[in-house]
Amino acid sequence: MGSFYISTPIYYVNDLPHIGHIYTTVVADVVSRYRRFIGDDVFFLTGTDEHCQSIMKAAEKLGIEPREQADRVVSRYHEIWKTLDITHDDFVRTTQPRHRQAVEAIVARIEASGDFYVDKHEGWYCSSCESFYTEKELLPGNRCPTHETDCEWQSEENVFFRLSKYQDRLLELYAGDPPFVVPESRANEVRSFVEGGLKDISVSRAGLPWGIPFPGRDNEVIYVWLDALTNYLTALGLGSDDTSKLERYWHDDGIRINMIGKDILRFHAIWWPAFLMSAGLPVPSTVAIHGWWLRDNKKVSKTVGNIVRPDALIERFGPDVLRYYLLRDMVFGQDAGFSDEAFVDRYNSDLANDLGNTVSRLVKLTRSIFDGKTPPESCNNNPIIAAAATAVSQYHEGMQSFEYSKALAALWKLLSEVNQYLVAREPWKTVKTEGPSEGVSRVLWNSLEGVRIVTTALAPVMPSTAARILEAIGAGAVPMERAALEWGRLPLDQPLPELEPFFPRVDRKAFLSGDEIDEPAPPKQKAKPSRQPAAEESDMITIDKFFETKLRIATIKSAERIENTDKLLKLTVDVGEDEDRTLVAGIAESYEADALVGRQVAVVANLKPAKLRGVESQGMVLAASVDGKPVLLSPDNPVPNGTPVK
Ligand code: ME8
Ligand code: MG
Repeated sequence: MGSFYISTPIYYVNDLPHIGHIYTTVVADVVSRYRRFIGDDVFFLTGTDEHCQSIMKAAEKLGIEPREQADRVVSRYHEIWKTLDITHDDFVRTTQPRHRQAVEAIVARIEASGDFYVDKHEGWYCSSCESFYTEKELLPGNRCPTHETDCEWQSEENVFFRLSKYQDRLLELYAGDPPFVVPESRANEVRSFVEGGLKDISVSRAGLPWGIPFPGRDNEVIYVWLDALTNYLTALGLGSDDTSKLERYWHDDGIRINMIGKDILRFHAIWWPAFLMSAGLPVPSTVAIHGWWLRDNKKVSKTVGNIVRPDALIERFGPDVLRYYLLRDMVFGQDAGFSDEAFVDRYNSDLANDLGNTVSRLVKLTRSIFDGKTPPESCNNNPIIAAAATAVSQYHEGMQSFEYSKALAALWKLLSEVNQYLVAREPWKTVKTEGPSEGVSRVLWNSLEGVRIVTTALAPVMPSTAARILEAIGAGAVPMERAALEWGRLPLDQPLPELEPFFPRVDRKAFLSGDEIDEPAPPKQKAKPSRQPAAEESDMITIDKFFETKLRIATIKSAERIENTDKLLKLTVDVGEDEDRTLVAGIAESYEADALVGRQVAVVANLKPAKLRGVESQGMVLAASVDGKPVLLSPDNPVPNGTPVK
């Protein structure tokens, strides 16, 4: 049993998680589950990066302390990981005291190596990356190559780290086997960057009130990347009294993977190992780098403004489907386009058709022939045995070499071989002449056994689905031993419960147009009489209940008609939050889109998002309803966005 450590990046806590963030965590979860299954001692880490400038700005806007803002928003991450069945062993927040201890410990070790010095520092800074760029790297107009936003010229006296000193040791590291950076394309990129010469980097920031103080430097905090990278060892106890986890998971014999997206490659493949070398600590065994989820050929990101939120997809399909899609549709290391079309097509072909239909058909047939039980005869000589052995070995290879899409494709190949075998043997016909014969039993048992192997291997990707299918085919609970992928384990004569349908086909057109999901309730036909009758006792609510509804003032920043509707407008509104919201409002019959821009309205800010005509509405605009015609509610005088209504 080997030790296996894997981490995701720590996410900027102030950002709402989107599909790109979720990808890394889902992959790391799948790998962790797989490693536990094959018997490794696993430590899986995620967390949040909280000393970022965006949290400081958000807190300033709200008039609260940054730490309070971080406390408010960190639950977004806890919630999404719970919804997605993520099984991390620890969650580091960089505002935790244990993290400060770890950072102070690494700083002391680097200091002891003589790798810090003080100098003047100037350069172009991107506050979204929290990083300096050279003029050569910038886009025209001094814009950030990742975010395409303006960089600022900054100049100050800072502590520097002697990165240049580690150039040779880094190149040696990159030449090692197994490779330090995967995939190879990224390894080449890093190597040529380092071969081009490394400059020392500044690791303190002056005049920032938010961060971990740099020991011995008044008014300077530790640069957020040195702070953030150290999280990978915080969770193992660096700087604390208990270093048992460091000894258990961060040693040269174990596997230690930092998994990240390509935009943070240099920090992880150059700076991080250099910091560790300087600190006299082992470096990761692999920095595994995935590509970007794109929409319209641009990186999905808050700054670009083309975010894909997973909530609606999870609500509609459950976590397993999204997990499967993410792993199957992205070749790890390359970019992939996210689209609703690709999502629904993948669902219909792989899950509704290949997996769902095969299982349903087999279970139904077996139940009807063998009296609600698994077949009574097994078989050790048939073409599925070899097909399964091939699929299982390709699956292990894929899971251990970052080729998840390939691993899944191997399982689906086995599934299709099971189907071909069934079609060739036609047990539904044979049974008519032979009855529940030994031959029929063997054909069905073989097919079910093939499905059992596919499903067992699928469990790290689709844990709930696998549990359900294994139970449905009489195979019991999801096994936690590698040997479960060997041929011949499906029990004979086991009761087969009746199978509820699962993964029903989705009507592509309805799904894509958004018509599948609830339309807004039509406005009431009749206006209420103007004099309200005295409320009955039972109609009364408490003030607390009323305040469960968060009403806020917002400014409409843009408005447009939603195609093929008479009533619906899509509004972008500023509710005084970090990000604007999209609302769908049924007011187009009374208001021209253009006339609404700049206008303040009252909105319900804590309404569960709903998809209307394919557009996700993150709240609701309030209007009086006069004979079904909306009349908007606005404040008497302009007020700051986000002002509560009470
Ligand atoms: O960078 N496709 O945090 P972060 C794929 N706090 N991956 C994407 C993506 C996309 N469209 N957009 C973002 C930070 N990511 C730092 C990390 S670690 C010591 C500090 C990935 O919240 C991105 O590549 O901005 C990165 O791996 C992760 O989301 C976190 O991004
Ligand atoms: Mg980012």
